[in-house]
Amino acid sequence: MNDVVTVNQCECKNKTLEQLKQYDNFYAAMGATGCGAECGKCIPFIKLMFATGETEFKSDDPRLDQYRPAPVEYDLGFM
Ligand code: FES
Repeated sequence: MNDVVTVNQCECKNKTLEQLKQYDNFYAAMGATGCGAECGKCIPFIKLMFATGETEFKSDDPRLDQYRPAPVEYDLGFM
C-alpha cells in the first residue's frame, strides 16, 4: 500500500520547489543545485512544477505520470 504524501521539495538536497522555481527550467535547477541527481524521486515533481507553476503536489497526482521515467527493459541476450 502506498501512502499519499504531500511533496514540496527535493529531500536529498533540502531545496523546496519554491526555491527551484527561480531557475529557467529543470536542467538549470538541476545543474545549479543537484536536485534530481541523487535518488531522482523528485524529478517528476520538479518537472511538473516547471510545467504548472505549482509548488506542492500530492504523491498520487496523475499529472506526474508523464514525467516519470519509462521502465527500462534489458536484453541480456541469454534469457
Ligand atoms: S529527492 Fe531529489 S534527488 Fe532525491
